[in-house]
Formats: sequence, C-alpha cells, structure tokens
Amino acid sequence: MIAPLLDPAGRPLSAYRAGAGDAPLVLLVAHDAATQQRWHRCAEALADAGRQALVLGAEALCGDAALQVATLRAVLRQLPARPAIVAAGAAAAPVLAALSGGEPDPASALVLIDPPDPLCDDASIGARACHAAGTLALPVLVLASDGAEAAALDIPAAEHACLADGAGETQDAFDAQLIEFLERRVPRAPIDYVGGSDQRTLRDALGTFATGVTVVTATAPDGTHVGLTANSFTSVSLDPPLLLVCPARSSSSAPILAEAEFFAVNVLHIGQQPVSTLFATRGADRFADTAIELWERGVPILPNSLASFECRRHAAHDAGDHFILVGEVERARYAPQRDPLLYFRGKYRRLHFA
Ligand SMILES: Cc1cc2nc3c(=O)[nH]c(=O)nc-3n(C[C@H](O)[C@H](O)[C@H](O)COP(=O)(O)O)c2cc1C
Repeated sequence: MIAPLLDPAGRPLSAYRAGAGDAPLVLLVAHDAATQQRWHRCAEALADAGRQALVLGAEALCGDAALQVATLRAVLRQLPARPAIVAAGAAAAPVLAALSGGEPDPASALVLIDPPDPLCDDASIGARACHAAGTLALPVLVLASDGAEAAALDIPAAEHACLADGAGETQDAFDAQLIEFLERRVPRAPIDYVGGSDQRTLRDALGTFATGVTVVTATAPDGTHVGLTANSFTSVSLDPPLLLVCPARSSSSAPILAEAEFFAVNVLHIGQQPVSTLFATRGADRFADTAIELWERGVPILPNSLASFECRRHAAHDAGDHFILVGEVERARYAPQRDPLLYFRGKYRRLHFA
C-alpha cells in the first residue's frame, strides 16, 4: 500500500490508484485534465493486466518547470519501488529532468508519447531533460501519433513506434501497446506452485487460461430444471461429435447431471454476465426469472445464447472433486455475430483487438 503522496512542501498530491498493492508499479503522469482522464482508464487496463497503476493528478505539474521537477523527484522518492513512468506531451521534459543524475535510474522503464520538440522552452530544464535522455539506461518506448513530428530525442536504445489507433478504438489499442511493452521489457517474476502446496496458487495458475463461460443444464426425473455456470468446457471430437464439461461433485446440480441421459451446454455472450452470476450463486432460484425453451430432449436451453448444444450423455468419468461429463451433440444452434463473455484470472472480460 502506498502512503498518500506529498509535494516538496509536504502538501498532499492527488493520485488515482488501481491494481494490487504488491504488483509492479506504473506511474502515469498527467499534464492536463484530458490526459488525466485518459490515464484513469488506462490505469484500470493496467490493473487488469496485473500491474499497480498510480495516476498523478495534473496539479503536480502546474508550477514552474523547476518546481515540477522537484515534485516528480519527491514523488519518486516516496514510492516503494521503482515505477515504469508514462508521460505524454509537455510532461516529457520534467519527467526526463527528474530522472537525470539518478544512480541507478529511479524508474524501471519510461514511455513517452508525443514528446514535444524542443522538449521544453525553459532552457535549464530543457538542457537537463536532453542530457538525461542521452544517459538513461532503462528501457524506453517513444510513441508518436500519426502525422506528429517525433521530437529529435537522442535516447540510445529507445524503441520508437507509432501510437496505435486500432480503427477508432484508440484507448484500447494504446493500452494494449503499453502492456505489451511492459510485459516484454519489465517482466514480472513468475510465481511457483509445487505439488501439494497451497491450493490458492494452483487456482491462480489455472486461472491464467482464458475461457468462455457456459451454463450447463439438465432436467431431473421429476421435471425440475438444474443448471450451473461452468468454464471447464471443451470440444472433444468431431466424429462422433463430443464435448465435455467438468461439474464439481459438491454442486447441487451434480447428482442430476451425473445421471441425466441428456444435458445442454449454453455458451454465453457478452450480454449474459448476469446469467452467469445467477447460475453461480448458491441458493438462488436459477429458473424463476430465466427464459428457457425446450428442444427434443426437454433440457433447458437458454434462448439467444452465443451457442447452445443439446447432448446425449456419452460418458462420465471420475476426476477428483469434479467429474468429467462427456456428451454427444445431437443438436446445436449458434449466433455468428455476437461476442463471447470471457473469464480470465477470476474476472469477466470482453474481447478487444489491438
Ligand atoms: C465463470 C465461472 C466458471 C465456473 N466454472 C465451473 C466449472 O467448470 N465447474 C464447476 O463445478 N463449477 C464452476 N463454477 C462454480 C459454479 O457455477 C458454482 O459453484 C455452482 O453454481 C454452485 O452451485 P450450487 O450452489 O447449487 O452447488 C464456475 C463459476 C463461475 C463464476
């Protein structure tokens, strides 16, 4: 946990935080309100990518150039770890000047977006910034907007790239570009699990496999419908057409699913997150307000799902505290235009293309 940040005079600075306290730190420096808003959204994407993001309020850069540098230096001294620093436009010069003369570099990486040319009208800061640029040993990425003149910055070994503009989805594309650079140049230490050690680490390791989300349903002999949210879904065979899903033995649906002659797997689209939550909530009446339709085999189909597969039970195999339910697909329907609901590292996600 980072304590409140103070300026050189001991006054508190506003900062927006996102991500876990023990994750590698990214400091996003804003020089105006619009950039600050953009950094807030970027901070959430960084947090989703396993980083801790700190957005320094634009007021940190509102004094004269020398004060801006002093404030940034004070902030860097107060951080518990060397951050990767991201700065755009006019923030480039004070950031570079704040990094000058530090031994070792007080940051782990630097990303500059559209640094101006000249770097700064203030001669003393400009000179320090340019000197720092020439001596930095850390990984640096300089991004230039389409059509913008890249500053004649002499940073040995800096990577230069165009600021991504993913067909209008500029923010997503930029976030992806930034995360890719950090993953490559500021990698995190991997976490180890050793057989028999803590289950939480194993769950986290398995949670790195991104999946879609399904709701598996069946009908009990007395006509009661059962169903649960499951992401342990896999296609198995085309000939014969087989799929599998792994329900927990402890789930209330397990006794029916383990014996049912027929079951269905409904693959959820991005708009069905509430359905996923409902079918994963202990004690909830999952079918009270859920629209269903029945096909030939009488198992509940969730209409308008991304895909639904009606299956005849093919096999059920013991698998520790779960079982592997294999079904032969008798009928399927899918909606080719929709986006899937995704699940990754314990959170719902959506597709985005960089
Ligand atoms: C995204 C997601 C994926 C899940 N995947 C599975 C799964 O593959 N197998 C399983 O048994 N439970 C899975 N669960 C948990 C079950 O949905 C949940 O434990 C179950 O609905 C509890 O039902 P019960 O209270 O009626 O026993 C998942 C939950 C979520 C939110």
